[in-house]
Amino acid sequence: MSCDRTFYVTTPIYYVNDVPHIGHAYTTIAADTLALHHRMAGEKVLFCTGTDEHGQKIQSTAQAKGMTAQELADRTVENFRRLWEVLHITHDDFIRTTEPRHEKVVQTIFTRLMEKGDIYKGTYEGLYCVPCETYVPESQMGEGKTCPDCKRPLQPMTEESYFFRISRYQEPLLRYYEENPDAIQPRSRYNEVVSFIRSGLNDQSVSRTTLKWGIPVPGDERHVVYVWFDALINYLTVAGYPDDEERLRTFWPAVRHLVGKDIIRFHCVVWPAMLLALGLNPPRQVFAHGWWTVEGEKMSKSKGNVVDPFEMVDLYGVDAFRYFLLREVAFGNDGDFSELALVQRVNSDLANDLGNLLNRTLQMVERFQGGQVLPGGAADPLDEELLDAAEVTRKAYSDAMERMAFDEALKALWALIGRGNKYIDATMPWKLGKEGQTERLASVLSVLCTVLRQAALLVSPVMPATARTMWRQLGLAGTPEDAGFAAAEKPFPAGVTVAKGEVLFPRIDVESWKEAKAARERDRNLDPDPGEHEEEIAIDDFRKVELRVGRIVAAEAVPKADKLFKIDVDLGYERRTIVSGIREYYKAEELVGKTIIVVCNLKPVKLRGVESRGMLLAAESCRDDSLALLTLDGAMALGSRIH
Ligand code: ME8
Ligand code: MG
Repeated sequence: MSCDRTFYVTTPIYYVNDVPHIGHAYTTIAADTLALHHRMAGEKVLFCTGTDEHGQKIQSTAQAKGMTAQELADRTVENFRRLWEVLHITHDDFIRTTEPRHEKVVQTIFTRLMEKGDIYKGTYEGLYCVPCETYVPESQMGEGKTCPDCKRPLQPMTEESYFFRISRYQEPLLRYYEENPDAIQPRSRYNEVVSFIRSGLNDQSVSRTTLKWGIPVPGDERHVVYVWFDALINYLTVAGYPDDEERLRTFWPAVRHLVGKDIIRFHCVVWPAMLLALGLNPPRQVFAHGWWTVEGEKMSKSKGNVVDPFEMVDLYGVDAFRYFLLREVAFGNDGDFSELALVQRVNSDLANDLGNLLNRTLQMVERFQGGQVLPGGAADPLDEELLDAAEVTRKAYSDAMERMAFDEALKALWALIGRGNKYIDATMPWKLGKEGQTERLASVLSVLCTVLRQAALLVSPVMPATARTMWRQLGLAGTPEDAGFAAAEKPFPAGVTVAKGEVLFPRIDVESWKEAKAARERDRNLDPDPGEHEEEIAIDDFRKVELRVGRIVAAEAVPKADKLFKIDVDLGYERRTIVSGIREYYKAEELVGKTIIVVCNLKPVKLRGVESRGMLLAAESCRDDSLALLTLDGAMALGSRIH
């Protein structure tokens, strides 16, 4: 196996203020698949991932949870490590930006750029988005001075700051992209970045005095290095910069950065400019993939629809999850995650097409040839057709993988699997068996095993565990990963004994799956994670709610509405009627006389013909379906405000 090509692939390093979700899983699975593919093609591979642990966002999250930023990072990093294990990720290195090996490199780079005059001291005034860790220029602000990305209000900030003289690299960057039109994928992103650079680059603030949680600026410890400047450098730290020159020469600039489309500018403008300033080449390629929505909606914590990759693996298995993410949408396009779509892919592509081809073939090898794959005789045109198709598939597959077109690679492979199943229908090996045409039968089964071995090899980067199972069942020694793609070109070893085992992917019964999913959702609603919260609001938002003390003076059932009470409340300065859905929980006579809390400035609504002016406050249990009205601790004049 020749090792004259190298392939270095990275994922973004993920923030440790969040639990890992399907988006993180996606980029990392894609990077893993590429790493496995290039290893199997005989290349020397470096595949790195890690965590981004500094910055305001981490510091604030830690504060809110009552721990230090380091404690938060130490805790959260384990979730990522565990997920990569569960997803069978084969990274060569995992970097945390709080590791001394990284802090050293960041400081070295900062110093070098300062010495070159590419970093200088100045003052920064501007509007800053804390969640996104970025200043937003006037031209990009949303309505009412909000962040164009997360839509939250921006905060004014003035600070002494070090600046990266990125303006100096505008022309060199444009020249680089002109000469390397493949450096940004997909093409639409390339155009976007180039026109952004053409519109002019302003020097970038690369230090902060407003927080402590960061790498100190060498020689000026009131400043910490801006988290993005720190984070991007991780890609050089793991490549051996600056001391391990040989490692660096091997892997730089042969790097492919996989990123979500949210962080293109950092990777395609700031980062290559930093590299040019250091006298290094920009990355060979940045691939910006698309965004996942969930069942048609944007994924968000407050909606409670964040897809938990651990749960998906529990439910469907790691390989079905990996396969679905890479097969469902073209890398680079947005996609929608739907569990039903996943179930349908398991049933059609995995159970039906792939599983059946393996199963039918091995069954016949066992039934007619005592489990042995025998040498074939003279080839028939049908055999040649299928074997030619297999060869064409290998080329199409590897060409698509080189372009990171995972969906196309898999489509090509599945076309071959489909042809394999048709070949069984056309050659009717069971008939050959019954008629005693042993030589022809041996040829047919050997052709099928050859195609299946190739399927195992090509499927391996996407579904490594499945590929190993196929390999074992085909009676082959070692693993597909160790054998590499070159193994597909050799004839299938005659005389091996197959070992048909469990089916690869049992079919999922859609009706019972639907019931189980509904039950899962019921459980989730009863048991919301007490750690999950609504979006933050400002104190002024809360003040808009007019809360007052009231007393229930009468309560009666609303006719033809078994959940509603019509309740009369005395607020001291007035009486009003409120319709409330608490009839399942209280009797009318229990309510009368209770001192309660009323939302007074709610818009009136008509419920079952009764006008309701306001709302009572009650707590709804997160454990069962009980409910309790809020009452007051101590006597208080009716109508008193609650703050
Ligand atoms: O941005 N669909 O970290 P991060 C697809 N620390 N991919 C998604 C996604 C979604 N809905 N949501 C997130 C950071 N991702 C920085 C990176 S790199 C030097 C520093 C993926 O934790 C996607 O890869 O916010 C995106 O780029 C990444 O998660 C952002 O992760
Ligand atoms: Mg993010």
